[in-house]
Amino acid sequence: TITVDPAAQGAAIDDTMYGVFFEDINRAADGGLYAELVQNRSFEYSTADNASYTPLTSWSVTGAAEAVNDSGRLNERNRTYLSLGAGSSVTNAGYNTGIRVEQGKKYDFSVWARAEGGTTLTVTLKDAAGTLATARQVAVKGGWARYRATFTATRTSNRGRLAVAATNAAALDMVSLFPRDTYKNQPNGLRKDLAEKIEALRPGFLRFPGGCLVNTGSMEDYSEASGWQRERSYQWKDTIGPVEQRATNANFWGYNQSYGLGYYEYFRFAEDIGAMPLPVVPALVTGCGQNKATDDEALLKRHIQDTLDLIEFANGPATSTWGKVRARMGHPRPFHLTHIGVGNEENLPHEFYARFQKFRAAIEAKYPEITVVSNSGPDDSGTTFETAWKLNREGGVDMVDEHYYNSPQWFLQNNDRYDSYDRNGPKVFLGEYASQGNAWKNALAEAAYMTGLERNADVVKLASYAPLLANEDYVQWRPDMIWFNNRASWGSANYEVQKLFMNNVGDRVVPSRATGTPSVSGPITGAIGLSTWATSAAYDDVKVTAADGSTLLSDDFSDGAARWKQVGGGSWSVQDGQYVQTDAAAENTLVTAGDPAWKDYDLHVKATKKSGK
Ligand code: AHR
Repeated sequence: TITVDPAAQGAAIDDTMYGVFFEDINRAADGGLYAELVQNRSFEYSTADNASYTPLTSWSVTGAAEAVNDSGRLNERNRTYLSLGAGSSVTNAGYNTGIRVEQGKKYDFSVWARAEGGTTLTVTLKDAAGTLATARQVAVKGGWARYRATFTATRTSNRGRLAVAATNAAALDMVSLFPRDTYKNQPNGLRKDLAEKIEALRPGFLRFPGGCLVNTGSMEDYSEASGWQRERSYQWKDTIGPVEQRATNANFWGYNQSYGLGYYEYFRFAEDIGAMPLPVVPALVTGCGQNKATDDEALLKRHIQDTLDLIEFANGPATSTWGKVRARMGHPRPFHLTHIGVGNEENLPHEFYARFQKFRAAIEAKYPEITVVSNSGPDDSGTTFETAWKLNREGGVDMVDEHYYNSPQWFLQNNDRYDSYDRNGPKVFLGEYASQGNAWKNALAEAAYMTGLERNADVVKLASYAPLLANEDYVQWRPDMIWFNNRASWGSANYEVQKLFMNNVGDRVVPSRATGTPSVSGPITGAIGLSTWATSAAYDDVKVTAADGSTLLSDDFSDGAARWKQVGGGSWSVQDGQYVQTDAAAENTLVTAGDPAWKDYDLHVKATKKSGK
């Protein structure tokens, strides 16, 4: 029986409550939301991004061609270019199975080229069965300049290749092929089906660009033999301006990020989908399994100034220094930034908070109207979490970002999590959460949990499922909300739940009470959630034992592979009083099939910390 009192006034629910969190993980940007079809278009892939990369990754060569990094380059921040010999050609393989083209649709090719003596480029779109469009010829003469051509596909293919051949020697860079048909026809735009799926959610906000992506490598430098040196961390200023002038960078998730999808494009996308933009900047304390904090005051000062400049880029008048840059890029009107996140999942709460306070003080002094979002580390509970919350609470922080990835059972059992949160303390931004799976039961557990978020809408102000996108051929993390390859995209069951909530945001909670909760009888065939997460960087091993001392799960990280590890994947069943792992590949559940009644399991988790941490 559900008793509802329509006259009672529950918490007001903000229109922005449910949003999306975009991170370039699982190749969500290049080869994903960013519509560029050429992979490694500027020959910048390097071993700094991934041990297997070279500047010619994704390119094949016929004849003579080499990647060159010298003073003849197109731009200081676009280091490498291709030197193509006379009578030679290069072919790009695109992403997934290749370049996707659809019959009758237009594709815009462009290239920056230099050929002092003059050359003719022949540009071809083809697959193993033959040509996919009429070849184009481009006459090149003189120093670096941009050349363009348009193709109309004569066939549909998921396995296209783009080839560029030169009659005489030429230098090439930024070899690009874009579908004409991008989301809202924006230049340097987004893949339509993916952007439309995100738009269909009607998200209240867009958190970007990460995640671990923003915060790792903050204190590391790239340096080249040439003496060129720059920071490795994600810096918004690297990602704006003409694309050929943007630096590329290593991505935390093990590949290269072109920054073609950069801060301007993120703000524009937020505006296009009617979402509040919510950028996150690095706090100069690395999170995500790493424990480092900068003591370099000058570096910290520069990042704080960069953050103030970011706010001016978003909100300043077109006459201001950074507002002018935004206007020049095509958006004289401000982007109406109201919230900004500083840091992500720092494991060192004291170190983080000390630096966060400096960002916060500077932002509040210049832009008192901006909400500065702090965070609570990588977990839903525990010492780091408690310490972070204590500091945030005592410091009167406006909003704290929480992240957790737990079993569906955890979500069902913790529906009341926010009922006991301090009504006068910082508000909660649940910036990342997901139950561990894309099955219906996961979606259902998340839906149940979201009713708990909504009931506490006076405390939980913003919530976003994570991660948002996954390219099925380049998966670093699962589950994910929307999946895709080079030709199709599909929403998970979890996507449907998010869509349901985001499209039906109420104005106010109507208090209700349920009685007569159904009881369970008969043998239990369900699953008991059991998972623990640890990082090989911080722990030597992790063990889960039952009350009788028997080991249920253990991992000594001997494979050394994973940064973050879910210990104890697989299904377990009780056979002859022993726990037996029945399906290592399935979800990590402890199955008690056939048990006569509910049983209490007294589980003990022991993680041995690495010495000195
Ligand atoms: O959403 C995937 C990752 O999970 C994010 O990068 C990080 O913040 C969290 O650990």
